Amino acid sequence: MHHTVDNLRLNCEVLGPESAAPILFIHGFPLSGAMWEPVADFLQADHRLIIPDLRGFGASEAGDSVSMLRYVHDCFALLDAIGEDRPVAVAGMSMGGYIAFEFFRRFRRRTASLILIDTRAAADTEESRKARLATAEKVLAHGSAVVADAMVDKLFSPHAPPGLKARWHGLMLSADARGVAAALKAMADRPDSTPDLPRIDVPTLIIVGEQDIVTPPGDSQAMHAAIPGSVLETIPAAGHMAAVEQPRRVADALRRFLGAP
Ligand code: MLT
Repeated sequence: MHHTVDNLRLNCEVLGPESAAPILFIHGFPLSGAMWEPVADFLQADHRLIIPDLRGFGASEAGDSVSMLRYVHDCFALLDAIGEDRPVAVAGMSMGGYIAFEFFRRFRRRTASLILIDTRAAADTEESRKARLATAEKVLAHGSAVVADAMVDKLFSPHAPPGLKARWHGLMLSADARGVAAALKAMADRPDSTPDLPRIDVPTLIIVGEQDIVTPPGDSQAMHAAIPGSVLETIPAAGHMAAVEQPRRVADALRRFLGAP
């Protein structure tokens, strides 16, 4: 369903019973809310799932520029638009995790818990920052294929069926080039969340695909060591897209963490 936020039409799917505790699922780059469909199949009977397409992805319009904070405000405006005023479990995958950290910093009292999936706390190095900005220019000149072609083989473990890769290659190709370039610039400028880790005082679950080569398990182990009381779940036979490759295992990890609905 679409809502107008900051003069843009943003799409947000809402699934599951209204009375159940809400989970906000924030997708990675250059993906869309569709990445949560397999996990949602296992959770929607008894959880409230709020699944936006970030601006410039999926069925949401792109703006000219964005930041992690702007994405947070978009998510917050969508929560308002759907009448959700309770604290939410904030689940973010990769770039969605960078946004989840920002959500926690800005809206601590609305953050019931954090679920950090295939992500990292550190900011870009100067070298990767420059590479991102160069990629953003290439995307504006040549389209989203620049990123889709470079990323498709990095998203999945060797166990993933070719059909899954082909589907996600197609979805990444269809991402709006303006939205992709804006997200690259926003990630290049994102703050380092490492100093915040010891201050995280909400229940935190960290999930990582055992064969994630984009945000490898070492990044998750470091977050686990630094976030007091956090829980780490490593998902076998899964890469960066653990939620898509092993949705049942990821849903089970979420259930163990969230407890009975
Ligand atoms: C993602 O999966 O969201 C991105 O690969 C994250 C990144 O490039 O840092």
